[in-house]
Amino acid sequence: MRTTKWCGIVLMTLVFFFIAVNGFASSGHGQNQPKKIGILLVAFGSSEPSAQISFENIDKKVKIAYPGIPVHWAYTSHIIRNKLAKQGKFLNSPEVALSKMKDEGFTHVAVQALHTIGGEEYHDLRRTVGAFKIMGGFQRIVLGYPLLASQKDMQLAVSAILESIPTERKSNEAIVLMGHGTHHPSNAFYAALMFQLQLKDPNVFVGTVEGYPDVDLIKELLIKRKIKKAYLMPFMSVAGDHAKNDMAGDEDDSWKSILTKAGIQCAPILKGTAEYDKFVDIWVSHIKGPLSHFE
Ligand code: CO
Repeated sequence: MRTTKWCGIVLMTLVFFFIAVNGFASSGHGQNQPKKIGILLVAFGSSEPSAQISFENIDKKVKIAYPGIPVHWAYTSHIIRNKLAKQGKFLNSPEVALSKMKDEGFTHVAVQALHTIGGEEYHDLRRTVGAFKIMGGFQRIVLGYPLLASQKDMQLAVSAILESIPTERKSNEAIVLMGHGTHHPSNAFYAALMFQLQLKDPNVFVGTVEGYPDVDLIKELLIKRKIKKAYLMPFMSVAGDHAKNDMAGDEDDSWKSILTKAGIQCAPILKGTAEYDKFVDIWVSHIKGPLSHFE
């Protein structure tokens, strides 16, 4: 009886010791490494020269807001990466960028998405970040929110939009924003944004290329309000292919052609949201989220 009891205690101690040593060894993975915090900015990517200016502006602003923290970049679109590789510019995917950061001894990584909504691309990135988390490549790796995530972001975006409206626009003229749109549930952000914009300025509209609300609905609303002129503005970080062709192009199915045919004079503005400091500030402030986990 006594021997059994002692055997039990010895066994329990051994088990505890085993768990403690193993637990320490696994959680101690990389613990001896000095803490090295890094930021990884992730954009869809663009071959537009104006996009490059926006990316450089974001890079500069991030470095000013978080001094001393190295900033790396990754691009999710492999079409863009392949296109630029042919011009001799080699860009990293998030997977490659994170692997390189691991090799460079980063222990804590704040991954910041430069997407507009938490749609498909954002969730793909979330999966990549999750995979690095499971592999234990870093002590901490945390993903920051896209432009529109919280109600506060919506309010900041509404102000940023209202402040970027051309000064010559009269109140009976419309502002029509072109969002990307998606089949993803997050598509609801566009209509929600339009609702909140219209509380401040009833002639600001938000449509999308690939989701709801579409251009036909926006056209009906403009006709109902007897709008004679509309400023078309991309609600995408970069004024790329969608802005140049689907929004401002001369083809019959562009927004400019569709609205012009309905008797609405169109003035397209080819400037992406990443070119306006007010929008960039929202993305930059979101990096605070992941960094707050590293203290
Ligand atoms: Co697209």
